[in-house]
Amino acid sequence: MSKQTRTKKPDPQNSKPRILVLHGPNLNLLGAREPEIYGRNTLESIHRAMEAQGRAVGVQVESYQSNSEGELVDRVQSAASEGVQFIIINPAAYTHTSIALRDALAAVAIPFIEVHLSNIHSRESFRKHSYFSDIAVGVICGLGSEGYELALAAALARINPT
Ligand code: DQA
Repeated sequence: MSKQTRTKKPDPQNSKPRILVLHGPNLNLLGAREPEIYGRNTLESIHRAMEAQGRAVGVQVESYQSNSEGELVDRVQSAASEGVQFIIINPAAYTHTSIALRDALAAVAIPFIEVHLSNIHSRESFRKHSYFSDIAVGVICGLGSEGYELALAAALARINPT
């Protein structure tokens, strides 16, 4: 499967705040892909945990994974017209290459947190540079799938300040 969308059917009556979680290339293989680096949790289990975390406070959490740069750019652009309030993104390998995806996030001006399962600073030198970190609200890396939960907690605090 090259693309995975887990989004409930749009409900015109649904005025819940929305958070979009974007996953870049090869993250559809989580669980089987280099588990000693990325852990054993699948993308599906990460998504379910985040969806439940959002549901508990009345926030709709949607996830989208693509191996294609253009599709990720398109998804960021649609997020603006859909009223998405916050984005959590693991751009995966595009972290280190994609000016196009960075420009899309800058263009829509939706605040975002960058997440990496592995500690990109303790690996090959080409992973140390991110095209996203300087325009992100924050960056979480090296905490495995827990990083997504922490990012979501931070995003929830920012869209639902109480
Ligand atoms: C990653 C780190 C990237 O360098 C790599 O290309 C990935 C995953 C991470 O979550 O640790 O695909 O973003």
